Amino acid sequence: MNMMTKLKTEAQFVDQFGRGKRKLRISVTDRCNFKCVYCMPEHPEWMKKHDLLSFEELYQFCDFMVRRGIESIRITGGEPLMRQGVVHFVAQLQDLKKLGLKRISMTTNAHYLKQYAQALKQAGLDDLNISLDSLDTAQFKQLTQKDLAPVLEGIQAAQAVGLPIKINSVLMKGMNDDQILPLARWSVQQKISLRFIEFMPLDGDRKWSTEHVVSEQHILDTLATEFTVTSQANDSAQSSSDPARQYFIDAHPIGIISTITNSFCGSCDRVRLTAQGEFYNCLFAPKGLNLKNEIKALTASVPLRELSLHSTLSNYIWNKEHGFHAIQQRLKNEPSRKISMHMIGG
Ligand code: GTP
Ligand code: 5AD
Ligand code: SF4
Repeated sequence: MNMMTKLKTEAQFVDQFGRGKRKLRISVTDRCNFKCVYCMPEHPEWMKKHDLLSFEELYQFCDFMVRRGIESIRITGGEPLMRQGVVHFVAQLQDLKKLGLKRISMTTNAHYLKQYAQALKQAGLDDLNISLDSLDTAQFKQLTQKDLAPVLEGIQAAQAVGLPIKINSVLMKGMNDDQILPLARWSVQQKISLRFIEFMPLDGDRKWSTEHVVSEQHILDTLATEFTVTSQANDSAQSSSDPARQYFIDAHPIGIISTITNSFCGSCDRVRLTAQGEFYNCLFAPKGLNLKNEIKALTASVPLRELSLHSTLSNYIWNKEHGFHAIQQRLKNEPSRKISMHMIGG
């Protein structure tokens, strides 16, 4: 083992279940121009701009994390393209590739993508995940309060500049579960990767209930009415930490992210930071860790700050619980935490 590998291995953050952390998700803003019912509250209270970490501070934190084994950074929101300077941030992050970062990705609603696709490609973005929950214009508007057309144009623009994309479709019973076949047909025709996502209890107004969830099994049964569905379970395309379980419909790949009925927590390699510096060891962690001052001190090169941040984070990450079901079970009689998807970024 050479010195670099040794240093990296020793420093990597690991939790009590032996799950090493390789993916960091950074929410750069909680603001969004959409109001997806499964995410945004009816009356959002936006974070104050002066409370957000600057891109310089976020960069220093990413540098710190990449030196401790993070290989993939995903920029999320709210809607990340609503924060000015995000393209430059993507370009800046390229410097971390020499330290071991392999992939810089973004999750977006694609409304502004037509305008930004070329610049993101030029800045070195590796890939994009795009939310698209309906191909029916009226239903799309009902779900998001925005128009479908700019999203489809954004998707085309990303394809035109050669950015690899995956589509995310959150399904909710009685709202858009009639979109399983239309979205699947569209993804086959367009040769685009699609993942269906089970609705999770992270909506801003906390209206989630199991009755709203469209299960992985229901999705598979519906797909099977029109396609030959096979599992990719033993295929190399299925990476062990991928949140999506991979299938083929006829010969076309399709994924299902099923936190509720078939959770994938056993291989979780993700950690998250919100725009104002709260760190979460799990999407459902009841408590985050406020790192704002520690991150600011990193930027100011305060001596020994790295050591202090390392030990605080090691401890918090080590104590990561097993995952969604374990946390739900433990907290079943307690009020749920206030943080919703638009603050934590998925
Ligand atoms: P890649 O696999 O790297 O492409 O990204 P991703 O699928 O993790 O990212 P994306 O932002 O597209 O998320 C898709 C869906 O998966 C969203 O609903 C996320 O909330 C969900 N998701 C991503 N990571 C996790 C996770 O660790 N736990 C759970 N429960 N859901 C996750
Ligand atoms: N349940 C499941 N997925 C969600 N997303 C947002 N809110 C929820 C939720 N409550 C998805 C969006 C986006 C990704 C970051 O998270 O569709 O693609
Ligand atoms: Fe990881 Fe928590 Fe998601 Fe499970 S619920 S996959 S542990 S982030």
